Amino acid sequence: MNITVRVWRQKNADDKGRMVTYGVENVSEHMSFLEMLDVLNEQLTLSGDDPIAFDHDCREGICGMCGVVINGIAHGPEVTTTCQLHMRSFEDGAVIDVEPWRAGAFPVVKDLVVDRSAFDRIIQAGGYISAPTGSAPDAHAVPVPKDDADHAFDAATCIGCGACVAACPNGSAMLFTSAKITHLGLLPQGQPERESRVIGMVEQHDHEGFGGCTNIGECTSACPKGIPLDTIAQLNRDLLGALAHGKA
Ligand code: SF4
Ligand code: FES
Repeated sequence: MNITVRVWRQKNADDKGRMVTYGVENVSEHMSFLEMLDVLNEQLTLSGDDPIAFDHDCREGICGMCGVVINGIAHGPEVTTTCQLHMRSFEDGAVIDVEPWRAGAFPVVKDLVVDRSAFDRIIQAGGYISAPTGSAPDAHAVPVPKDDADHAFDAATCIGCGACVAACPNGSAMLFTSAKITHLGLLPQGQPERESRVIGMVEQHDHEGFGGCTNIGECTSACPKGIPLDTIAQLNRDLLGALAHGKA
């Protein structure tokens, strides 16, 4: 395949940034999108240009680092991570736009790299349990109903990629926050901090500049792990309960 990519280039956080057009030839349809960017970067390096900065780590859909907007869609045309997107999803001769996540709470660091440390601070505000560590407890020592275990597991598959924020017209991180709250709130070990957790995490979410949820649902459509809107309903129930108990 021979393709054209128009990539957001921005030297640093203060630079205004612009789209720059590059041609990439002999792209295999079996390459991942990131491998195509590797080929382009090799081309740029050999010609003495600055390679495109983009985040990546596991390249197998589990770390959440590789978020970019492709042709206006978070992670591109398939509901998956950018590292799991393959060039066969595009036509030969395609012109492909590549941009960083666009959200006020995710400032651009360089090119396609954004600062997602706001997510870390939301986790620090309550996304943990205080169960003592030590030797592993006996299996089944703490019974958990199967439905709760399944839903907690599903919520725990959130990889913190930020696609939900990038896709949301409000720039809201409610799907991410609610996935963490649901994961811990459904398990016995998550009960002691259940109310302080939801208050702390929602306060930090708002403090970071993420928008509010108005139930549009773009987040769940873009989520590579299929985190459902139900988790936001769970967050709202927990928040109302905590407020009713005067926890704010
Ligand atoms: S909820 Fe989905 S889209 Fe949002 S950070 Fe988690 S995995 Fe990514
Ligand atoms: S590089 Fe880890 S999810 Fe894509």
